[in-house]
Amino acid sequence: MFQINEDYQKLPGSYLFSTIAKKVAAFTQANPDKNIIRLGIGDVTLPLAPAIIKALHAAVDEMGAAETFRGYAPDLGYDFLRKAIVENDYKARNCHIEEDEVFVSDGAKSDSGNIQEIFGPECRIAVCDPVYPVYVDSNVMAGRTGVYNRDTEMWSNVIYMPCTAENNFVPEFPKETPDIIYLCLPNNPTGTTITKSELSEWVEYAKKTGAVIIYDAAYEAYISEDNVAHSIYECEGARECAIEIRSFSKNAGFTGMRLGFTVVPKDLKCNGVSLRDMWARRHGTKFNGAPYIVQRAGEAVYSPEGKAQLKEQVAYYMNNAAAIKEGLSDAGYTVFGGVNAPYIWLKTPDKMTSWEFFDYLLENANVVGTPGSGFGPSGEGYFRLTAFGSYENTAAALERIKKL
Ligand code: MLT
Repeated sequence: MFQINEDYQKLPGSYLFSTIAKKVAAFTQANPDKNIIRLGIGDVTLPLAPAIIKALHAAVDEMGAAETFRGYAPDLGYDFLRKAIVENDYKARNCHIEEDEVFVSDGAKSDSGNIQEIFGPECRIAVCDPVYPVYVDSNVMAGRTGVYNRDTEMWSNVIYMPCTAENNFVPEFPKETPDIIYLCLPNNPTGTTITKSELSEWVEYAKKTGAVIIYDAAYEAYISEDNVAHSIYECEGARECAIEIRSFSKNAGFTGMRLGFTVVPKDLKCNGVSLRDMWARRHGTKFNGAPYIVQRAGEAVYSPEGKAQLKEQVAYYMNNAAAIKEGLSDAGYTVFGGVNAPYIWLKTPDKMTSWEFFDYLLENANVVGTPGSGFGPSGEGYFRLTAFGSYENTAAALERIKKL
């Protein structure tokens, strides 16, 4: 008789955003006349930029002609896209990354969930707390996290690095030594970030302790401050200790298109074994490439028109972020983030728990946000709002919250 992967049974509840979707669906069913504003999941709302649509149309036409039709994509992704990535995301920032160190994928969520596969089962992970749930859950599924304590909401074999207002949301080096360190900067969910010199200290720490950093830079397009690194490879030595994951979802609105990439430098080795070669083996075996038309759309992100149009989109969302930040501060809330990231992290009022505030906001303002505790125990007492809504909805949500 077959057996199941018992590690899946250890996962508490459903995936955070699935739980929220279910709650909102139940509320909508009970209150069909209410106009709900969704500022929960970080999903974009602006349509794809014209340069991207143009590239998509052209690629679709190519797929309709025998001479230009494409079947399976190359293992690592099309050359044209990897070249554009290297030129624009790395060379332009003086980072040494080679085209065959870039692996095009169907998005940062898949890559950040899958990357743990190339590490040994005994590796101990360290995560910021609060944290994007995929890093922890994917390691739970792989049996790496130990036992879950329902009271503390922590796993016995995970090292938590609390990021709260008390430490300015800057993770501190853990007391126990981790093997794999997950960093998402600018941060989801807190919307805060660290400086390039603070990041360089993490690179030094990883090299000293023999750890690897999984660096999720999905929100780099939202960086507005000069002292913040756009890539971990801006820090000296990162090629030897860091893997970087990038997304086209947040900077270019590809949440429904699916495109991302992971960089694994050749200098990253474990006892002489190249992690780049391992990831290439994994990618070749388990993945058959992002669609040609989507990769062509990704290339258009780096065209002069694409860059200009996307700069405007990012500015649009960051204008929402500024409005939320200001509106909530005026209403007496304590707010963080929203300067280098499209997320606002607020303290719940009147000592409400994160889920109490979720229900309160849904019922009284018909606004959906994300409870901080859903991202980890240190997120308790906090709440996340996304700036990815339309300006009109964002402004309307603020008006409703101010009236509470
Ligand atoms: C979030 O809301 O945290 C993100 O949109 C989730 C994701 O990117 O997968």
